[in-house]
Amino acid sequence: MNNIDKIKAELEQFSVSSMETLEQFRLKFLAKKSELQELLSEIKNVAPEERKSFGQQVNELKQKAQQLYEENKAKMEMQAVSAGSDLDVTRPSTALTVGSMHPISIMMNEVCDIFEKIGFDVVTGPDVEDDWHVFTALNFPEEHPARDMQDTFFIELHPDILLRTHTSSLQVRTMEKQQPPIRVICPGRVFRNEAITSRAHCIFHQVEGLYVAENVSFAEMKQTLLYFAQQMFGKETKIRLRPSYFPFTEPSAEMDISCNICGGSGCALCKHTGWVEILGCGMVDPSVLENCGIDSKKYTGYAFGLGIERMTMLKYRTNDIRLYFENDVRFLRQFRSAGK
Ligand code: PHE
Repeated sequence: MNNIDKIKAELEQFSVSSMETLEQFRLKFLAKKSELQELLSEIKNVAPEERKSFGQQVNELKQKAQQLYEENKAKMEMQAVSAGSDLDVTRPSTALTVGSMHPISIMMNEVCDIFEKIGFDVVTGPDVEDDWHVFTALNFPEEHPARDMQDTFFIELHPDILLRTHTSSLQVRTMEKQQPPIRVICPGRVFRNEAITSRAHCIFHQVEGLYVAENVSFAEMKQTLLYFAQQMFGKETKIRLRPSYFPFTEPSAEMDISCNICGGSGCALCKHTGWVEILGCGMVDPSVLENCGIDSKKYTGYAFGLGIERMTMLKYRTNDIRLYFENDVRFLRQFRSAGK
């Protein structure tokens, strides 16, 4: 016991200041013939009633010695590296800046989260599509003027191949693969040959929703979209459906939400109407169901397509869509804490 105290005191006093003293430390406390190691081999000779406490103390001492040795060794090695130069390897490094989620990604994830919680599955598909999935299966007959609603980028070498103008192509892809009940949400990037302004861009993002089953009604769609709007923009949010036209839904509507910037009283973003359009929707046209191999006598469905940039502008109160594509870090950094 006396020896333990003695070695402990020596250990605490020992100061390592060079590779040589480090080696002395090792010889004194850790080498096979050191006093401390000898104490370890003594454990078995100690009277049984004292053995436990003795063993514990010697082992603690040994761990302490080992730890001190490692620490000092690391310190001495670093000193050796920087010896004779101005380099100080012990100096803390400059902090690494961590990237942030892009606001569009944050918004797409939030939309998907809200719908996943009520039973929708996330499905994705190709940006480069064919005419069938983007137009023909969705009831845009060839030469039909409705095709001009969306200015399309075609691939020059192959007129049948194009950049999708909407995520509605994923309605077709999903229904071709799967029989009802179908309940999917499809985030994606879309492309339109449009002039770039503060409100429009040739690349943007949509989230498509599709629900097909027996007896799906327009009322169900309306309630689901109200639920979504309130989850996303707050319980106070109101929605408004205006009649519209899309070749692949009948009836069709566009949905506005009450402007959450002015609270409905009128501002620049809502063009003083109190309402902002965020999506197109409607009941899936029976001929679209048939084009995809689904029995339109048995099943009905609704679909909707959300404009992500518009919603992101509303949520984060930005007034220029181009900010989302310029990747100016001063803009993007502001979203660091907004990600989930
Ligand atoms: N695809 C339409 C658009 O891009 C939106 C939409 C989707 C409308 C689904 C109805 C149903 O404008």
